[in-house]
Amino acid sequence: GRTDLATRRLRPDAEGVASAAALLREGGLVAFPTETVYGLGADAGDGRAVAGIYAAKGRPSFNPLIVHVADAEAAGRIVEVTPLARELMAAFWPGPLTLVLRSREGAAVSPLVMAGLPTVALRAPAHPVARALLEAVGRPLAAPSANPSGRVSPTTADHVLAGLGGRIAAVLDGGACAVGVESTILALEPEPRLLRAGGLPVEALEQALGQRIAVDTDPARVAAPGQMASHYAPKGSVRLNAVAAEPGEVMLGFGPVGGELTLSASGDLREAAASLFGCLHRLDAMGAGRIAVAPVPETGLGRAINDRLRRAAAPRS
Ligand code: TXA
Ligand code: MG
Repeated sequence: GRTDLATRRLRPDAEGVASAAALLREGGLVAFPTETVYGLGADAGDGRAVAGIYAAKGRPSFNPLIVHVADAEAAGRIVEVTPLARELMAAFWPGPLTLVLRSREGAAVSPLVMAGLPTVALRAPAHPVARALLEAVGRPLAAPSANPSGRVSPTTADHVLAGLGGRIAAVLDGGACAVGVESTILALEPEPRLLRAGGLPVEALEQALGQRIAVDTDPARVAAPGQMASHYAPKGSVRLNAVAAEPGEVMLGFGPVGGELTLSASGDLREAAASLFGCLHRLDAMGAGRIAVAPVPETGLGRAINDRLRRAAAPRS
């Protein structure tokens, strides 16, 4: 339709990446694939472009953005990289880990990215198309998930176009995202705190740090303004920990609990994470008014999956 014409779909080859980079350098908005979900990118140093992200998503301006960089060296130009941060970057970057660190004086990042906080959330994505794009642009990219604010995150270019088509310059189509849930967010000061469960299991972080990590994902906390209770919302209502559908409900299964759709018939958490948002988008497309979801264990990627499901089930404001 018209919106698809207005937003260009670019192939993830050298030519598509070069076109995307040119659009970003001119201050345009370009969605791109990462291993977690698609991001809506803008030059992090261009205040007008960053303001465009908030406008295109309908995102509250108090909710700061994640800045994407190529590596630890690029991160060091934006934030104070503590010894602990350096260790975690060496262990887990590139990959689905976002670190919240104190911003450096004179960092070339628009203040709109931080939404008034003294810190910046940074990550180095592992997806080869994201990495090629960062290299071609040569600047850090601010990129929240490429969905309208409060809706389900996109794991395909089609999801991006369905939500933001006509509002952004282009989407680089890199196929489906392998991880499927957003990055794990860890604040490091004054001590490590988990702000969002995500694609890197917290158990892996605890093992690397040799200590338990405090969880600070209370939706009421101002420290993680994006952790609003109602988020990732499909259009229908959501009932959690269901072992069978009630009349009028569409069942989303997991493992032995079957349904019209399943996160993973074999009960595999990796597969469930990768299929979660696609299932929610499909339930929207089916017009499911009431959704029942099977229980998912609260370990490894199950924490990120349950976090997203709880938010999908939360009362809508
Ligand atoms: O996997 C991901 O992280 C994806 C891909 C595109 O990289 N991005 C993503 O961005 O999920 P977004 O905007 O949907 O979520 C960013 C989260 C929000 O909850 C926001 O509040 C939090 O990061 N955040 C950003 N800067 C922060 C900061 N300085 N302190 C605490 N939380 C911050
Ligand atoms: Mg998001």
